[in-house]
Amino acid sequence: MVKVDLTGCATFLDATGPDYGAASAAHRMLSERTGKGAEFTGWLELPRLMKRRELKSIQSAANKIRGRSRALVVVGIGGSYLGARGAIELLRPIQRADSPRVFFAGNGLSSDYLSDIIEALGDDDFDVNVISKSGTTLEPALSFRVFRQLLEKKYGSAAKRHIFATTDANRGVLHDMARAEGWERFVVPDDVGGRYSVLSAVGLLPMAVAGIDIAAVLDAADETFQALDLRSPENPAWQYAAARQQLYTKGYGIELLASYEPSFRFMAEWWKQLYGESEGKNGIGIFPASLEYTADLHSMGQYIQDGPRTLFETVVNFEKPLTSVKVPFGMGDPDKLNYLAGREFASVCATAREAVKSAHIAGGVPNIVVNAESRDERGFAQLVCFFELACAISGYMSGVNPFDQPGVEAYKKNMFKMLGKPNA
Ligand code: PA5
Repeated sequence: MVKVDLTGCATFLDATGPDYGAASAAHRMLSERTGKGAEFTGWLELPRLMKRRELKSIQSAANKIRGRSRALVVVGIGGSYLGARGAIELLRPIQRADSPRVFFAGNGLSSDYLSDIIEALGDDDFDVNVISKSGTTLEPALSFRVFRQLLEKKYGSAAKRHIFATTDANRGVLHDMARAEGWERFVVPDDVGGRYSVLSAVGLLPMAVAGIDIAAVLDAADETFQALDLRSPENPAWQYAAARQQLYTKGYGIELLASYEPSFRFMAEWWKQLYGESEGKNGIGIFPASLEYTADLHSMGQYIQDGPRTLFETVVNFEKPLTSVKVPFGMGDPDKLNYLAGREFASVCATAREAVKSAHIAGGVPNIVVNAESRDERGFAQLVCFFELACAISGYMSGVNPFDQPGVEAYKKNMFKMLGKPNA
């Protein structure tokens, strides 16, 4: 289970600690569906629902793709992209020989990026999973045109068997196209917003193609949501939500999510969207930023230690390393590192973590630690459920609707007008 350690921020909080009364009230609003945006809280049921409904068909589509293709192009943006990428980079940072390569497209408008993917695909067989709840998002819709055309050139009338559409169950342009063309379809449930959708087909199909055991993910997620239903200050989601809300009221407006695992990078991107889009509204909200340690200590360390005191730090750890690498003995000790010879990298890293933590606290940066069990399907599911639940609780504590994103429309309106979209 995820554990939260607040010892590194205790001296920055009220003597009475975080406001667990408010966390409890927020949790109740969520579970009784009395809060704002309650119609978008279906993600709490996703693990169970997916096991009952789509798991088998997702696995069989993934097996089909794995059996015949060297690559999968996942076309999507925001909540229709970051969860899958976070999971795949966390759990399969190095592509395995028996798995197709997974490319992510539709997450921008760069022609060079698209051309690079097309070049990398070469003559390989490939499939496309186009993911869009609305079906109208410009970036993925344009990229999809490109990859659909490529498929049609390569496979002719059989191209339709290489397209998998993940979208609304009943409506939208993508839904209508998929139905008309006979593409295999998966559902983004009505009551689940993009940034909470990673445990639906949105995340699960690309993950399964990459060789991730999605049944294990769903089992662990189901178990985690049950465990996190605990109504007590022992609930790690309450601890995290309530501590960060209190830090915010004390002027700590920027949260740095850091991990010592480079493969966590896109999970941090997923987390940024989850928290930024859920909480940044009505003129308030913690700004979510992310860092990769120890690399970024050599670029951002100065600012963290000594810049404006508005930062707090949340460090994600995996308790059990999956592998063991020891520092080798150096004959003659030319680099003077034999004092570390024989030590596990994991142990050196743990010491570095402690050193960084105490330096940052001494420099005025409150520190929260989030411990997951291990960097595998189970640890991934634990983190997803923990961060989602804590985000909803934290959002309700701050008084916002954590499930809408009205601000995202502003740039789209301008862009469509400037691009000459009819009736924009
Ligand atoms: O969380 C969200 O709602 C957004 O990030 C969307 O997922 C993103 O804009 C993509 O939308 P759609 O899936 O409709 O293409």
